Amino acid sequence: MDRRRDRGGTQRISKFLAQAGVASRRAADQLIQQGRVTVNGKVAVLGQKITPGTDEILVDNKPVTPKEEHVYVMLHKPAGYLSTCHDPFGRPIVLSLIPEITQRVFPVGRLDFDSEGLLILTNDGHLAYLLTHPKHQVIKEYVVEVSGKRDNSKINELLSGIIIDGKKVYVDYAKFLDSPGSDLRILIGVHEGQKHLVKQLCKAVGYRVKQLIRTRIGPLAIFGLEKGKWRYLTQKEVQALYKAARG
Ligand code: URA
Repeated sequence: MDRRRDRGGTQRISKFLAQAGVASRRAADQLIQQGRVTVNGKVAVLGQKITPGTDEILVDNKPVTPKEEHVYVMLHKPAGYLSTCHDPFGRPIVLSLIPEITQRVFPVGRLDFDSEGLLILTNDGHLAYLLTHPKHQVIKEYVVEVSGKRDNSKINELLSGIIIDGKKVYVDYAKFLDSPGSDLRILIGVHEGQKHLVKQLCKAVGYRVKQLIRTRIGPLAIFGLEKGKWRYLTQKEVQALYKAARG
């Protein structure tokens, strides 16, 4: 995680060479002093700033490719944002909520425009794959506010499997939550990832979703993070996500 890379994405050349695995910072300085490093065809100088991925860096005439550091962010997505990196219609996207992140991260799995809660953003494609593929059984947990009456038979229906798009989907768990007032809230855990899955499951048992909040992805929970805010994941949290996905 390189938080010191400036907003234009530039970096000191010796640091870039060290991160790319060419040499240690000190040895990279020596390579530069020996005139063995060029930037866009010109001999590099100590302390020079370069733009990884844009400038052509050669060491002994061999190109050096930047190693991308992995960045892991958790965002408390508010409703009214698309979990995509771009929208041709100009609607708000989640990336606009993490302007400080200069690396090219993408959302892991989707949350609907009107859904809220935990969204992981990363440039680690492998972890994204592990977390989203149902075969890795990482449970996503949702608190769903629904319209209708409390009816335990509907929970039993959810638990005994619901056919969605011709395939039987089992929830990992489902139960009513104690709700203040007249709100009816269900806690649902699922490891499948079909589009609008939770809404479809609720609809299948006769409930319409009024609000959907993702509270957990495997071991990672949203609690303590305000709506619209983000933070980096700790190394421990990243390790726990990998562990959860590998079983
Ligand atoms: N299931 C849904 O229906 N919507 C979401 O945003 C996430 C899961």
